[in-house]
Amino acid sequence: MTKLEHVEIDGDRLQHQIDELALISENPPPVVTRILFSEADLRGRAFVKKLAAEAGLRVRQDAVGNIFVRWTGQNPQLPAIATGSHIDAIPNAGKFDGVVGVLGAIEAIRALQRAGLNPKRSIEVIIFTAEEPTRFGIGCVGSRLLAGTLLPENAARLKDRDGKTLESWRKEVGWADEDLHSVRLASNCYYAFVELHIEQGPLLEKENFPIGIVERIAAPSTLRLDLTGVGGHAGGTLMPGRRDALLAGAEIALAVEQAALNSGSPDTVATTGIFRIEPGAVNSVPCQAHLEIDLRDTQTHTRDGALAQIEKAVREICEPRGVQFELERVAADPPVICDPRLVSLIAQTCSTIGLPFKRMVSRAYHDSSFMAQICPTAMIFIPCRNGWSHRPDEYASSDQIKTGVTVLAHALVSLASEG
Ligand code: GLV
Ligand code: MN
Ligand code: MN
Repeated sequence: MTKLEHVEIDGDRLQHQIDELALISENPPPVVTRILFSEADLRGRAFVKKLAAEAGLRVRQDAVGNIFVRWTGQNPQLPAIATGSHIDAIPNAGKFDGVVGVLGAIEAIRALQRAGLNPKRSIEVIIFTAEEPTRFGIGCVGSRLLAGTLLPENAARLKDRDGKTLESWRKEVGWADEDLHSVRLASNCYYAFVELHIEQGPLLEKENFPIGIVERIAAPSTLRLDLTGVGGHAGGTLMPGRRDALLAGAEIALAVEQAALNSGSPDTVATTGIFRIEPGAVNSVPCQAHLEIDLRDTQTHTRDGALAQIEKAVREICEPRGVQFELERVAADPPVICDPRLVSLIAQTCSTIGLPFKRMVSRAYHDSSFMAQICPTAMIFIPCRNGWSHRPDEYASSDQIKTGVTVLAHALVSLASEG
């Protein structure tokens, strides 16, 4: 028996850790909410650091809170193999999104250690800051900064809904000793990056595949829209001449749906996920509305066509209603092609273990989208029940997770053994 055949994931311990982390939440179970800089986010980080320290791994944190957990290889000078994901969770989420790729990666390293493996290259788990866009309206803040896609000065100015900047938050939580410029990684710093994640779609379960290998990650974009109308008394303001910000927003939300439906691509999806109004009183005409719109596609040209369609609709809807608008493209990222050699290596790993796999597209975005800009990157998916995600009943079984972590462990060690 080779040492690789001794790699045995401790699925029970991993499940227990996933359950424990899920209890660190801003809401009672089964809801998981861990928004960047919340008390739950800070406690979740401490929980992961404690697990890493217990495994004898070296822990470091950068100026934006990305956490690096390293198992030093025989030749620490060689660029390391990176893996990891995120532990922040959107409001009303479940316990597996991101977490499987973080706690699973630490368990993968522990299993490799137990099997007596001692690879050439170091293996590093990265726990990325704010993969989710909840606090600042933009996702993957940590990985964008690592890759240099988000400039440090722009990151520092990001504001949450209370107007508090990333820079003020960094000071408040004690991360501001170093400047954000220090976060960016050199482009030869990692040999490869492999992220394990739940699929967040139904295909693996429907088609009965235990493993998905991601070949492409869809192109996401986000729009932020502020509408200003004129408020007033709901009884005293007659209908003609009203400048109701909510009604303009409502028409725009329908236009967003139409832009996706008419894009010409079945892969275009669009969501108005945030819609807040002021003053929010039943007897007052809404004077302001704030909308945040998420639009994605597997191809840039249909995504961009739909974006332009929405921007045109905003102008056409606001003008006759006398509503002023401020529209910002917060992000419009290109689709990502995963590294073909890594995809083949993971496919070969699955074949060696005897696991069927499906090559597929990720419709969700991930920190992998940005890591791909600095090193060869690929993703391993496991099924999740009914494809549900971003909801409290998100679920992957202990066995499904164990299978994913086994593939991850094998892929990591085979990459870490390359000269
Ligand atoms: C990540 O959470 C995404 O929205 O795709
Ligand atoms: Mn998510
Ligand atoms: Mn995720």
